[in-house]
Amino acid sequence: MFKTIIEPFRIKVVEQIKMTTPEQRQEMIQAAGYNIFALRSDDVIIDLLTDSGTGAMSAEQWSGIMRGDESYAGSPSYFRFRDSVQDITGFEHIIPTHQGRAAERILFSVMCKEGDVVPNNSHFDTTRANVEFRGATALDLPSPELADMDSDRPFKGDMNVDRLRAAFAEYGADRIPLVMLTVTNNSGGGQPVSMANIREVSAVCREHNTPLYLDACRLTENSYFIKQRETGYADKTVRQIVREMCDLTDGCTMSAKKDAIVNMGGFLATRDAELAQEEKNLLILTEGFPTYGGLAGRDLEALAVGMQEAVDEDYLHYRIASTRYIGDHLREAGVPLIWPPGGHAIYLDARRFAAHLEPIQLPGVSVAIALYLLGGVRACEIGTLMFGRRNSETGEEIAGPRELVRLAIPRRVYTQSHMDYVIEVVIKAFQEREGLPAYRIVEQAPFLRHFSAKLEPVR
Ligand code: F0G
Repeated sequence: MFKTIIEPFRIKVVEQIKMTTPEQRQEMIQAAGYNIFALRSDDVIIDLLTDSGTGAMSAEQWSGIMRGDESYAGSPSYFRFRDSVQDITGFEHIIPTHQGRAAERILFSVMCKEGDVVPNNSHFDTTRANVEFRGATALDLPSPELADMDSDRPFKGDMNVDRLRAAFAEYGADRIPLVMLTVTNNSGGGQPVSMANIREVSAVCREHNTPLYLDACRLTENSYFIKQRETGYADKTVRQIVREMCDLTDGCTMSAKKDAIVNMGGFLATRDAELAQEEKNLLILTEGFPTYGGLAGRDLEALAVGMQEAVDEDYLHYRIASTRYIGDHLREAGVPLIWPPGGHAIYLDARRFAAHLEPIQLPGVSVAIALYLLGGVRACEIGTLMFGRRNSETGEEIAGPRELVRLAIPRRVYTQSHMDYVIEVVIKAFQEREGLPAYRIVEQAPFLRHFSAKLEPVR
């Protein structure tokens, strides 16, 4: 009836934002070696570095925190957590972990061996790193539709099923211990995966007797996209859609720092009792006893509540619409971005944004720093700084596959006026794009260099 979509919550506690001037920010970014990861977060006005662990918990979650039972073994908080996750996903064995990557490490340690191949629509960095740490190969099989940043296709996050079949033919099922689907596809611009694709991938896996796992961080956002966009799902509830997705798979890893709106936590889930036992044995080595797995009882309580809030459709409606709102306004102003907007983030295309810069001149860094200098907005480069490398023999810089800048939206944290401000800042940077300087790396670590590199503008 009304066109304004309001935040479906009221604000009871506020956190002061420290306002800064462009001059102060110039000093701060210089002191940070022009690396946005080296900024202090209280020197940032709007922090869009990640949507992970940065959400605002609800009054119900904070109430759960007070109820947390910190017993070493058999805590009621564990059972409430387990029941809630089982209720949403239908998976039988639920193993708590301190975050997503801990679940990944345990899963791949148990399931993979050297020489194996793990297909995924697109591996997230930690997922890839954990597969490779086992001596296995992380194989990305994105949909060809993902290559076209501007098309309006509804499910660009899908896996390429022809290539999955080809992978089974090439490596044989013996070398593919599991297949994974990342929902939504974070490395692929936050694009959703369709139920039709999950069904097809699941059928190929069944043919080869190979388990299918979800990387389920953004499971409920993906489900909401299915409800909105896929034929036959408009009248189903998100809860039903989540369950249908899980029913097509054998287990999942979950970083609950995303859709389950907790600041820390995750889990590993499976239907296989024997596998679960092996996983728990490993869990005890590094994470903790299986009824807490590296989390405090209070964290388990917040997670139990967060899983239920994550399927609330008024919340998801606001969540997806507010990300879309930013995308619509930026596109209208001609700002190049991955289209359609994802659920949790907007991805600017720095290649076209700063078209006068070559990839090795770090256009993504240049755009991200401009957003900080202009408006104190912190975004994350996903480009040559993150995925390029330096040839250790020749010293030559090698470009990454794309130049993106991700504006990830924390859950329930910012209001529409914060986002109007972000839109203004991005449009201003775009208007001044011809003056964006090149950057070069002056100091870098041999791997994951983006976290610690020192840079400087080339004038
Ligand atoms: N899988 C996906 C798809 C992710 O996006 C992340 C984290 C993880 C796994 C790992 O989870 O951080 O709890 O260990 N993504 C964050 C991001 C860090 O900013 O996109 P974790």
